[in-house]
Amino acid sequence: MKIAVVGAGYVGLVTAACLAELGNDVVCIDRDHGRVALLQAGGVPIYEPGLDDWVQRNQHAGRLRFSTALPAAVAHAEVIFIAVGTPPQEDGSADLQHVLAVAQQIGRHMDGFKVVVNKSTVPVGTAQQVEQALREHGQHDFAVVSNPEFLKEGAAIDDFMHPDRIVIGVPEGAAGERARTLMARLYAPFNRHHERTVWMDVASAELTKYASNAMLAMRISFMNEMALLADALGADIDAVRRGVGADSRIGPSFLYAGTGYGGSCFPKDTRALVHSAASQGLRMRLVEATEAVNAAQKQVLVQQVCARFGNDLRGLRFGLWGLAFKPNTNDMREAPSRTVIAELLARGAELLAHDPVATSEAQRALAADLGRPIADIPQLHFVDMPLDALHDVDALLVLTEWKCFHHPDFAAMAQRMRAPVVFDGRNLFDPAQMQELGFVYQGIGRRNRAARPVRVPRASHGPLLATAAQARPASRLHP
Ligand SMILES: NC(=O)c1ccc[n+]([C@@H]2O[C@H](COP(=O)([O-])OP(=O)(O)OC[C@H]3O[C@@H](n4cnc5c(N)ncnc54)[C@H](O)[C@@H]3O)[C@@H](O)[C@H]2O)c1
Repeated sequence: MKIAVVGAGYVGLVTAACLAELGNDVVCIDRDHGRVALLQAGGVPIYEPGLDDWVQRNQHAGRLRFSTALPAAVAHAEVIFIAVGTPPQEDGSADLQHVLAVAQQIGRHMDGFKVVVNKSTVPVGTAQQVEQALREHGQHDFAVVSNPEFLKEGAAIDDFMHPDRIVIGVPEGAAGERARTLMARLYAPFNRHHERTVWMDVASAELTKYASNAMLAMRISFMNEMALLADALGADIDAVRRGVGADSRIGPSFLYAGTGYGGSCFPKDTRALVHSAASQGLRMRLVEATEAVNAAQKQVLVQQVCARFGNDLRGLRFGLWGLAFKPNTNDMREAPSRTVIAELLARGAELLAHDPVATSEAQRALAADLGRPIADIPQLHFVDMPLDALHDVDALLVLTEWKCFHHPDFAAMAQRMRAPVVFDGRNLFDPAQMQELGFVYQGIGRRNRAARPVRVPRASHGPLLATAAQARPASRLHP
């Protein structure tokens, strides 16, 4: 089939590459000329495991092209996917300007019947606005379909190719029936083993995406709140997680306590849902609480650090493992590391940060958060290897559960650290093993013992960089 995908971000690129892999003739459009030039030259602008191979293979096979020229893509395609960003606005609502701008352009260049598929996450009622834009700017018949995307960054290709379900909302009437036939044909390869498509009306499809993300975010916040209680009561949240998740009514996914969720979806989609409800005079109290718990959870590691070292962290150096909001991505949108870094720097700490792939993105995001270029923040260093982040540090903070952090060389770690203290924001390590190895270990809800303030004898750190060494006093006593 002839397909156009507008938006070459996480969702658009993956959609384009996967549909091309199935033999479709796909044009992927983006307005960002630099991004399109990179893709045309065989590069991929985002880190997503395996995506570069899929893009290049399909480009070479002639099934996947990249362009900035939307008119030609509209003429080419029978089905046009809109996969552009819907970022949050100040009031929490989804910003639809990109979706509607694309709809207007499609309308202007339609030369016959088109199925316009909304893959972006958009509030209920957006399809109607897209229809209006198409009608105002075009003269041909069309159907606007809602087909929300459920892929996870870091496992995006696998999620797209092996979906649990494909949600498709089609409008009533003859155009809707025509769209349904085309969408059924397009997605037929995914339904060979069993029918995965859940057909519904457009508004329900739009709401299904928000309901799914809110439910997943709620599970995480629920477990984070349970973790605080587990700490207070002397229970281990990881045992609780296994016990709870073994119930087939509940299942094991999204039950991990940690430093809070981030990324481009859960934070913005929960806020947009609250806003949608408010516009109907309703309150989503569970979703509001989910957000509030998450905001507080992003502070938990900082509180643990302060409980041990005091609020004044000048003269202390901390290693950070992981910056991305989750493993297998370089996405820094709403990453908990951003909160932790800002808070620790504000208290005067020096930081050595390592992430396997997200360093450049992190530098961009942190420069924006902190309002100055990274080069002007002498207390913040980025290092290439995990062990380099431990040079003479007073403690390690684990912020992202990258696979390469699961089985580190603990002896080499302890050797480099000034004190063997680990704040494990992702519960990667076994508290009993860490204790045996001589570490002071604090996880999230793991019967924490390290929270007690300790007297830390201060001696000067070994120099790291001239600027950093100058910023540290020679010795201090805590608390
Ligand atoms: N990232 C995810 O994991 C994920 C998962 C499911 C759903 N979603 C949803 O999918 C949508 C896209 O998300 P994303 O993460 O892929 O966004 P993204 O920011 O990575 O990519 C969006 C792309 O759209 C392009 N774009 C914007 N306006 C355009 C226009 N007028 N014409 C052409 N291109 C334009 C941008 O240049 C950018 O490359 C959002 O609504 C998001 O909520 C995202």
